[in-house]
Amino acid sequence: METTAFDVSKIRNDFPILSREVNGQPLLYLDNAATSQTPQQVIDAIVDYYSRYNANIHRGVHTLSQEATDAYEKARVKIQKHFNAAKPYEIIMTSGTTHGINLVAQGFTAFLAEGDDIWVSAMEHHSNIVPWQMLCERTGARLRVIPMDQKGELQLQPFLDGLSPKTKLVFCNHVSNALGTVNPIKAIIEVAHGVGAAVLIDGAQAAPHIAADLQALDVDFYTVSAHKLCGPTGVGALYGKEEWLEKLPPYQGGGEMIETVSFEKTTYAGLPHKFEAGTPNICGGIAFGAALDYLNGIGMEKIAAYEKELLEYATAALERIPGMQIYGQAREKTSVISFNLEGIHPYDVGTLLDKMGIAVRTGHHCAQPIMDFYGIPGTVRASFSFYNTFQEADRLAAGVEKARMMLS
Ligand code: ALA
Repeated sequence: METTAFDVSKIRNDFPILSREVNGQPLLYLDNAATSQTPQQVIDAIVDYYSRYNANIHRGVHTLSQEATDAYEKARVKIQKHFNAAKPYEIIMTSGTTHGINLVAQGFTAFLAEGDDIWVSAMEHHSNIVPWQMLCERTGARLRVIPMDQKGELQLQPFLDGLSPKTKLVFCNHVSNALGTVNPIKAIIEVAHGVGAAVLIDGAQAAPHIAADLQALDVDFYTVSAHKLCGPTGVGALYGKEEWLEKLPPYQGGGEMIETVSFEKTTYAGLPHKFEAGTPNICGGIAFGAALDYLNGIGMEKIAAYEKELLEYATAALERIPGMQIYGQAREKTSVISFNLEGIHPYDVGTLLDKMGIAVRTGHHCAQPIMDFYGIPGTVRASFSFYNTFQEADRLAAGVEKARMMLS
């Protein structure tokens, strides 16, 4: 099957790793929800930084420091523009989504009291559950859960019924990492704002597929990780509305986040530096910008259109396999297929697929409450990117069928 969206074989040439072999077979990489692969353009940006202008930023008058600062701040603006934030200083550079969530959770400690409500969705990654549980322990606030149904869609009614002036915070992922469900975040943000609650959306799994328009969403916080977006690991961004970022206290103390320091009193730097203590992942930030350039060079809408075709095609191919159970059949999904074969442990399927050169993730995907909901230990998760092909979807289905025959 061919696509009209773009030339996939040309795109694949940008990714050196895609031409390697695993266990004597051409690599079929379908673990993109865990981390995406890196195009040569981003690798080049990393090499260029360390070859030509490696220096600490915001600190030196020397040329290298100025060049590095300039490139790093340009990357911040690229992130701002990609997600349509109003101001560059509303983008806080982080080590990734988990860092961004913890920064906000820590900052809200002073704003919550016993009896306040925090809502999270039933399909969160552990990184969007545990920091809020810790916040509840610190403050006496209560953690409440927006439930989900068998299809893997959120059930908003109990949340709507439970909203009150005591609701202070709402957290939800834009897209579920384990199921691929695209959640109705615009509606959630609107009703949460109706009772004066702030909303943090975990955009880690959405960002590779959807360029969220943060101003249109009117969201208070949104977090992303570069490594899911063809960038490097260890870098990400937290968007926060200026008014919230002004209100929140600093997350960590250190160099860079101060205005003046004496032993009697320290005053903090303005945004975004108030939240950026210590030497950041400078090269990572610059490479994050290069990754966004790369994705925008293809076009996020084209990527989404192609991945939708690929998802439908791969789902149909897998559904033809006897004993196939797919978890997450939401009306709106990204290109993630979580499944099990009847009577076979996901780990065994994943291990056999690896022998065939096929990389998938198996297990609970850091979303144990979802697995508990379905009463399963885990799933096999195949997550597709725009550089995957229809032929690869066929190869996955053939591999899963072979694994079924061997394990039945
Ligand atoms: N959160 C990442 C995943 O879903 C690591 O695989």
